[in-house]
Amino acid sequence: MVVAKVVAIGSDHAGVELKREIMACLQQMGVQAVDLGPEGTASVDYPDYARKVSELVASGQAEMGILICGTGIGMSIAANKCHGIRAALCSEPVSARLSRQHNNANVLAMGSRMIGPVMAAEIVRTWLETPFDGGRHAARLSKITFMEEVFSKNAGQK
Ligand code: RB5
Repeated sequence: MVVAKVVAIGSDHAGVELKREIMACLQQMGVQAVDLGPEGTASVDYPDYARKVSELVASGQAEMGILICGTGIGMSIAANKCHGIRAALCSEPVSARLSRQHNNANVLAMGSRMIGPVMAAEIVRTWLETPFDGGRHAARLSKITFMEEVFSKNAGQK
């Protein structure tokens, strides 16, 4: 059973093709994908799409998000700058499962130049079917939330 019914998805030019394959996979799983672009393979900047997806997740309009660039690294770095986002870069299903169980990851980042479509589909399926374990992990996540508060306050003081 999936843990989210509405998932925001975005990529850069390097991730467009894999994004399309993942969208078909989400449809098969009965998950509504909100595609935030881009549509074509013209060069774009990955932070713009990391931001769009993160905003939808942080606002609650999407329950979770998926971001794809060439390596997944840029997308995960950018998404993790957004308040309330816990993005996990995964290239195999074990990390995908643990990112949900232990970290309650709400954004999944993948690299289209690092993994193939079959592996990516398995990662997505595992990620969306795994609930958060809570308990001691929730206490640790509270510490991350606290860090977000402290750093955003400090950023305002110059
Ligand atoms: C684009 O060439 C590439 O830099 C991007 O897709 C991503 O891998 C960045 O982290």
